[in-house]
Amino acid sequence: MTNEPPTPSTGRGNGLATEAPDPDQTILVAGGAGYIGSVLLPRLLDRGYRVRLLDRFYFGDQSLADVRDRLESVVVADVREIPAAALDGVDGVINLSGLSNDPTAEFDPAANWQMNAIATENLGRLCVERGIERYVFASSCSLYDGMPPGMHDETAPIQPRAAYATSKRYGEEKLLELVDEGLCPVILRNGTVYGYSPRMRFDLVVNTFVKDALLGGKLMLHGGGWMWRPLVDVRDVSDAMIAAYEAPAEKVRGEIFNVLHSNYQIRELAMIVAGSVQLVTGRAIGLEETPAPKLTRDYECSNSKLSMELGFIPRHSVLEAVTDLLDRVGHANPAELTDPRCYNIRWLELMNELKPSLERFATVL
Ligand SMILES: NC(=O)c1ccc[n+]([C@@H]2O[C@H](COP(=O)([O-])OP(=O)(O)OC[C@H]3O[C@@H](n4cnc5c(N)ncnc54)[C@H](O)[C@@H]3O)[C@@H](O)[C@H]2O)c1
Repeated sequence: MTNEPPTPSTGRGNGLATEAPDPDQTILVAGGAGYIGSVLLPRLLDRGYRVRLLDRFYFGDQSLADVRDRLESVVVADVREIPAAALDGVDGVINLSGLSNDPTAEFDPAANWQMNAIATENLGRLCVERGIERYVFASSCSLYDGMPPGMHDETAPIQPRAAYATSKRYGEEKLLELVDEGLCPVILRNGTVYGYSPRMRFDLVVNTFVKDALLGGKLMLHGGGWMWRPLVDVRDVSDAMIAAYEAPAEKVRGEIFNVLHSNYQIRELAMIVAGSVQLVTGRAIGLEETPAPKLTRDYECSNSKLSMELGFIPRHSVLEAVTDLLDRVGHANPAELTDPRCYNIRWLELMNELKPSLERFATVL
């Protein structure tokens, strides 16, 4: 895989101001070594912020290679037990930490609740105690799952049921309650993210399709792939976090924003990936329909609040991101594409499986 500069974009801006209004600030980014965080950190640093990273490094710290020297500091800690000093001198917080999809949340619902729900709330309370106002929280459009067909905005009467969505909703609600105590929480409900990150995830639908096309030449369409999903590029999500951080408090205090480029049907994504891979490699990519799984996620969201209120419009399309991904991973060693660290649930299961052996044999010697 390569960290070369991305494929030149279309030149369309997403609305993020070219310069930070007040870069003389220290931002604590919790979970910043992950897929989104590894793209966000250099962007924050390039805007002149001092960036403190707090992370447990579940997936390692390799993605920090290019930014580690520029970080104000690195706090290796669990978000469930934040050391008091981690918030010293901090002006604002961006929280990306916790279990970041349905399978990992269901793998250990108790840990998921502690990380995604309780720790999100506790970090909010710590901010209030310290007089830290801005708190940008990475929530998810999966909160809309289970809603009737149609387009849903931030006012939809959501009724999350799954472990992941329920914990994210609790986090949202608790942060919103803290507005009365002086917190300025901004909730970003991100669509499913796509595109290249130095900490790569191949368990997200577009990235998975690219990997499957490269490795097996075939894409599976469960239930025909007619389900709708909101999607967004990892660069746009990162910039949306920054826009939410920098916006005037009166525009964002206690507000929820959906963050997506567009709603796509899974089938359409497969066709975009198949066509792109075919064009680049010359190899035909097959699409195969398989029976629908018991549980399917199928929902559409509106991104108009983000554009109307903040003037922010995600700009990187799936086609552009896939082209960029192919530039970067098209010639990767297959082992890099199947590295278990690029699949959150696989990595968690593996860590769990290895734990007893690691406790007995810390080294092979
Ligand atoms: N990637 C997506 O498609 C997507 C979509 C919607 C919402 N989100 C949300 O955005 C956030 C970031 O997602 P991501 O794709 O970068 O996830 P990721 O799994 O790649 O990264 C999560 C990071 O948080 C760290 N972390 C996890 N639990 C921790 C703990 N208890 N203490 C300290 N650090 C911990 C991990 O080590 C990792 O670096 C998550 O909250 C996720 O729920 C992601």
